[in-house]
Amino acid sequence: MHFPNLTSPIQIGRVTFRNRIFSAPMGATDITADCCPGPRTQGFYELRAKGGAASVTVSELVVHPDTDGSHMLHLNLETVGCLAAHTFVADAIRRHGAVPSIELSHSGQYAGTYMSDKNKKESLCQWGPSDGTRPDGRPVRALSKEQIADIVKAYGENAALCKRAGYEMIMVHAGHGWLLQQFLSPWQNHRTDEYGGSLENRTRFAREVLQSVRNAVGPGFPIEVRISGSELFDGGYGIEDGIKIAQAFEPLVDLIHVSAGSYQFGFFNTTPPMFDPHGINVWLAAEIKKHVKKPVATIGALSDPEQMEQIIAEGKADVVYMGRQLLADPFHPQKVMAGQEDCIVKCLRCYTCMAERPVTFTRRCAVNPLIGREIEGMEVMPALRSKKVLVAGAGVAGLKAAITAAQRGHRVILCEKTDKVGGILKSEQAIPFKHEMYELGLVLERQALDEGVEIRLNTPVTPEYVKSECADALILAVGSTPFVPPIPGIESDNVVIVNDYYLQKEKVADTVVVLGGGLAGCECAVHLGMEGKTVHLVEMRDTLAPDCNIRHRPILMKKVAEFTTAHTGLAGQRITPEGVICMDAEGNEVLIPGKTIICAVGQKSNRADVDALRLSAPFVREIGDCIRPANITKAIYEGYHAALDI
Ligand SMILES: Cc1cc2nc3c(=O)[nH]c(=O)nc-3n(C[C@H](O)[C@H](O)[C@H](O)COP(=O)(O)O)c2cc1C
Ligand code: SF4
Repeated sequence: MHFPNLTSPIQIGRVTFRNRIFSAPMGATDITADCCPGPRTQGFYELRAKGGAASVTVSELVVHPDTDGSHMLHLNLETVGCLAAHTFVADAIRRHGAVPSIELSHSGQYAGTYMSDKNKKESLCQWGPSDGTRPDGRPVRALSKEQIADIVKAYGENAALCKRAGYEMIMVHAGHGWLLQQFLSPWQNHRTDEYGGSLENRTRFAREVLQSVRNAVGPGFPIEVRISGSELFDGGYGIEDGIKIAQAFEPLVDLIHVSAGSYQFGFFNTTPPMFDPHGINVWLAAEIKKHVKKPVATIGALSDPEQMEQIIAEGKADVVYMGRQLLADPFHPQKVMAGQEDCIVKCLRCYTCMAERPVTFTRRCAVNPLIGREIEGMEVMPALRSKKVLVAGAGVAGLKAAITAAQRGHRVILCEKTDKVGGILKSEQAIPFKHEMYELGLVLERQALDEGVEIRLNTPVTPEYVKSECADALILAVGSTPFVPPIPGIESDNVVIVNDYYLQKEKVADTVVVLGGGLAGCECAVHLGMEGKTVHLVEMRDTLAPDCNIRHRPILMKKVAEFTTAHTGLAGQRITPEGVICMDAEGNEVLIPGKTIICAVGQKSNRADVDALRLSAPFVREIGDCIRPANITKAIYEGYHAALDI
């Protein structure tokens, strides 16, 4: 065993868990009109269990719909069919050896947060600890003591039903800024009765909830409380109170799960972005663990088994939870158990998953085409007849297509015209916060070789080549090329194309102009700013990175503001040794100073290569950037599905 601590079993309450890797709750999506978990939900959780996690937590069962109106996207056991649906979900988790757990939740004053129907949202009444107004202007009303008592009772009733459905652990959500944390928070709780004021009073509601759950499930049944170890904002509670909160809950629970932050000030402390170090919130669990005897769990941007092993070995936590990493690679725990950590596909922390949910109510992961679509087939089915498949282009799209085709039993040759696989992702190796994107190419290459794909480097594919190979199927993944604007000076020695930055890093001076404020330009500019360079970011349009997803963009924009000077509405006219001469909307010329110019104005599809090859085999499919320059999500998805069609 490479990771003896991480892979060792743990007893929580009377239940033994097979290892220390638990799957975190991750938002319900497939909820039927009568609030039952739909079939896709079952498939989603089942895959997590199949992948080897010791426990799989089903997310956010609303306990009290009367005061928590966001149940459109939550689960609700008040509906008759719901108990059956949950029984199927719990069964699906258990049959792969994992412990099914479920999170009981109440959104409090943030009810309706994930509701898309704005009219319904308007009609909701928000309830919290105290009268007030939400940051979005919506009024909040204080819960009465009768309502509190009713909610406490509801937690117990729901816990009993969950136990009946077959869940073997209950997670009570008292973190992330939802109702129970709203009571814990001095910033939000201004009550003058026994539920407000002192910490003892502020923890009272949650303690009553935990007692109610305990009464319902009986002794020995594992109860886990999820808290934010610190609210991480001025005026909220800090780690000192976090420790006392954990101590107050300890007698009532079996596992203390330490997360971070509050919805009040954004989700990025809870779900750390790519700019943060891995395991940024582990210190909170480690501090709390020093002051309690019950097992403690940690979470937040964890994916590296070495780091997770160390966390357990050093006694910082007893359990590690992962959210996004188990979307990116649900088989992470199984690979850890089998010593195949080199084959783990790492989460990019790109937030595609979080951005998809509020927009389309589906799940999607940039690097895993199965996510949210598990019931369409978790296994890659063998082909009826093995064929010879030629894949042109070894970027992520081509790699994913080659791997999947080989898994189906085809003989696959993957041709790459350069001397390395990875395509455009090779250029991410010089940007530390995007290193997982670079690693994605390496992991896919390893997987391709393991699956028996023959990789031919320095091999451009021509119609003659396809003919000579007698390929039954040709997948065109020939990618895109950087667009280089035809402006005077663009060929000068002080210009670096963003894709070549990793090769010419040493050439970049201390003052830089990044020309092009799309996603690649913004991220490169932030990186250069982080390296201590003076960076001007120039974009022709009015908006920076308009295509960036709604979760990543606000964080990226904060970093852009922190590390660069950004200019929009400026078109580059010519490049000089002093910088870029640009034209503004009024036709005035301005010099944006910088000794090095990074050109990041976009990509253009390699259509000529596609056109030359599109009729050269009986089955031809175009995938990825050669259709339209887009993103990793599209490349992976198209690569996977093209191979399923052969
Ligand atoms: C798509 C998505 C949905 C989430 N939904 C929930 C949820 O329903 N309940 C909850 O307590 N946390 C939820 N979270 C937070 C995760 O449980 C976890 O705390 C967070 O993602 C940090 O862990 P990670 O860095 O391993 O992803 C969600 C996270 C993601 C990415
Ligand atoms: S979509 Fe991005 S952030 Fe979400 S799990 Fe997949 S790789 Fe990670």
